[in-house]
Amino acid sequence: MSFKIDNEDLLLQKNFINGVWCAAKSGNTLPVVDPATGELYATVPDSGADDARDAVEAAAVAFETWKKVPAKQRATILKRWNDLIIANAQDLGKIISSEQGKPLAEGVGEVAYAASYVEWFAEEATRANGEIIPSPAVGRRMAALKEPIGIVAAITPWNFPAAMIARKIAPALAAGCTVVCKPAAETPLTSLALVKLAEQAGVPAGVLNIVVTAQSKEVADVWLDDARVRKITFTGSTPVGKHLARESAGTLKKLSLELGGNAPFIVFDDAVLDDAVEGLMVAKFRNGGQTCVCPNRIYVQAGIYDEFVRKLTARVAALVVGPATNPASQIGPMINAKAIDKIESHVNDAVEKGARITTGGKRIQSAECVGPTYYAPTVLVDVDRSSKCFHEETFGPVAPLTKFNTEEEVLEWANASPFGLASYFYTNDLRRVTRVSEALECGIVGINEGAIAAEAAPFGGVKDSGYGREGSTHGLEEYMHIKYTCQGGLD
Ligand code: SIN
Repeated sequence: MSFKIDNEDLLLQKNFINGVWCAAKSGNTLPVVDPATGELYATVPDSGADDARDAVEAAAVAFETWKKVPAKQRATILKRWNDLIIANAQDLGKIISSEQGKPLAEGVGEVAYAASYVEWFAEEATRANGEIIPSPAVGRRMAALKEPIGIVAAITPWNFPAAMIARKIAPALAAGCTVVCKPAAETPLTSLALVKLAEQAGVPAGVLNIVVTAQSKEVADVWLDDARVRKITFTGSTPVGKHLARESAGTLKKLSLELGGNAPFIVFDDAVLDDAVEGLMVAKFRNGGQTCVCPNRIYVQAGIYDEFVRKLTARVAALVVGPATNPASQIGPMINAKAIDKIESHVNDAVEKGARITTGGKRIQSAECVGPTYYAPTVLVDVDRSSKCFHEETFGPVAPLTKFNTEEEVLEWANASPFGLASYFYTNDLRRVTRVSEALECGIVGINEGAIAAEAAPFGGVKDSGYGREGSTHGLEEYMHIKYTCQGGLD
């Protein structure tokens, strides 16, 4: 059973191109499944190249006027969008939970998180200041102006269907860009509802276009090949990010790539143990472990290892697994069969290599957990560092722990990964705080903190975790280029 929505106008099952809600030109459709039950939740267009082309045409025409709209006016529209998102938070939260599976409190929490980006970029829109540069020559005025980059293609993932749309589309619109967007095929309804609210907020026709599809390559290829699309912003897997980078070289697009992570979580002997356990619970089990900043490798120093394992196991064993329709649920179903198969294979592989399961370690199916993708929150201890779960994102509610002895050793382990998105560590040693944060190879460091994301902070990674930053003042710059003007003859 899915949730009942008060504002049924938000339940859209069509593309939005040039201000018109429309089916795919082919008439093809795609089922959206509620992972809590495995049942059909909605039917949306399965769009193709024609729809992708129409979206670009609309965005190209709209760009000519939207880029000239004063920043204050764009900000006003974004503020209205923010207000409408907040006003519809309960319904939007229910839509997120229905198609993505996260507990309702997290669904509604994600709506507030999404809105915070819209509000932030509404404010940033009016502060995209350029510079007057002191001229080295007499009689010249030199300036650097910020201009919108052009059409932006936003390709978003299923794990945060509202927040990822907001933190890509809000800065693009704030900068004066127009957008073509492809949400994840698993969770398109949240994005369609957000676009509906953007329409109501006064975003003009053609400025924001959304194309739903499971034919990701077909749609993305149109946008990759079209020189009018000047920017791709993508959150998803590293192989797809690399493909986009390679294929956009022909038209030299600017890219923001927020890709896979493999976050280390380090607990030193001198840490406040209870804080470290709570921080890990927040960071690891948010969205059932389906986040790219989730700790994936947990390193605990020898002196506190056994106590940490005991306390963590008790906390994890007490987590309530169930559908979002149960207000007590803390861990929902995984997104699909492929996801739960991967989790299971990582746990089995770790156990084969000597790890012990202190809680969880199995699928769940019960009168309440009727869908096929529930997995018990799991703690794995004494994990061998060659195990898959230390090298690939598990993307599930599995906390794998291993023991370390020295700071040097754990830093070497932490950095021995091609990924570099988030890292976390807990310590009470002031000098170690600076030393370790500077030594970690990643884009984000949580120091005695498990909840790191915020609209005012630059979110993004290094190495195979991608490049570009979302949120913060840097998030707006990703959607602008700098034009240098040199005016002579002033003497
Ligand atoms: C992600 O998992 O892609 C984003 C997580 C976040 O914004 O905290």
